[in-house]
Amino acid sequence: MVRRSLLLSAGSYLPKEILTNEELAKRVETSDEWIAQRTGIKQRHIAAPGELTSDLAVHAAEQALHHAGLRGADIDMLVVATTTPDHTFPATATKVQQRLGMKGGFAMDVQAVCSGFVYALATADNFIRCGQAHRALVIGAETFSRILDWKDRNTCVLFGDGAGAVVLESGEGEGNAKDRGILCTHLFSDGAYYDKLYVDGGPSATQTTGFVHMEGKEVFRHAVVNLAAAVDAAIASAGITAEDVDWLVPHQANRRIIDSMGQKLKLPPEKVVVTIDRHANTSAASIPLALAEAVNDGRIQRGQLVLMEAMGGGFTWGSALIRY
Ligand code: ACO
Repeated sequence: MVRRSLLLSAGSYLPKEILTNEELAKRVETSDEWIAQRTGIKQRHIAAPGELTSDLAVHAAEQALHHAGLRGADIDMLVVATTTPDHTFPATATKVQQRLGMKGGFAMDVQAVCSGFVYALATADNFIRCGQAHRALVIGAETFSRILDWKDRNTCVLFGDGAGAVVLESGEGEGNAKDRGILCTHLFSDGAYYDKLYVDGGPSATQTTGFVHMEGKEVFRHAVVNLAAAVDAAIASAGITAEDVDWLVPHQANRRIIDSMGQKLKLPPEKVVVTIDRHANTSAASIPLALAEAVNDGRIQRGQLVLMEAMGGGFTWGSALIRY
């Protein structure tokens, strides 16, 4: 028998305010047609003034805990993947820990930009499989709107705010691909591309927060290659074939990238969970938001095989294969 991290439940939260492409086109020189054609995005949610990443994270976590029939006190490991923490320190995860009433265990942030949720999931999975954690709450939460230059049409049209969360619990399996739970995770990074997608501020560099800058074409080119490699790594290491995958829950950065991964796996479009049209790119929150939507509306069923992949600044990229 081997130890596995079982996926008990998922939850999500989106801020109330919706900003459509049409509304955005009144602020910067762009159009609904340009944004929708290039990216698939139609609208994004924007956090209210004073609404922080920790607030979004707590809402998503509470929903995930509710679906699992658990309380904060039942969790012994909490990981928040975020690029937009409430403060430079402490970790946003510690504030979430306090608000959920989680007294014991430990909480930490993980920073891998849009790959953050896959990194956080892999971290929690390894702690659980080592026996150092029993029940983990893994959250991806972002107020990405706060690090956007709203005058820069190259970036401001692409992102949105939101949070998603999952509850993992230690369980047992046979050690093969029929097991329930996380079957494998694969993480990659290459700092040679640090300046292809970055924020031009930070506590050490400028003592300011800064704004996002991106060489879109370069990111796109690497995303297609790197995500394909991450998907191949998952399939090879689990000893399955692409046909065994029931669902693709990809990071939602660009509809064209999502479609190319679906085609690579020969999945019909209805087996690829897409939220980019409504959420835009919510960075570390995008995968758990999409996962929570498809789990909670009953599309993803117990026993089905779910493949997740993401790529983000760093560059960082990775995949996770889970039998729900
Ligand atoms: N509205 C209208 N025109 C625009 C806009 C806009 N919002 N933004 C840029 N343009 C213009 C540019 O100024 C440029 O004009 P120019 O040629 O006169 O200089 C032109 O459109 C660029 O067009 P394309 O080169 O055709 O744009 P492209 O097809 O590369 O699409 C996009 C741009 C959508 C950003 C794409 O490159 C992309 O999705 N890249 C990947 C992003 C990604 O995957 N990010 C994931 C990681 S995110 C993270 O980690 C935080």
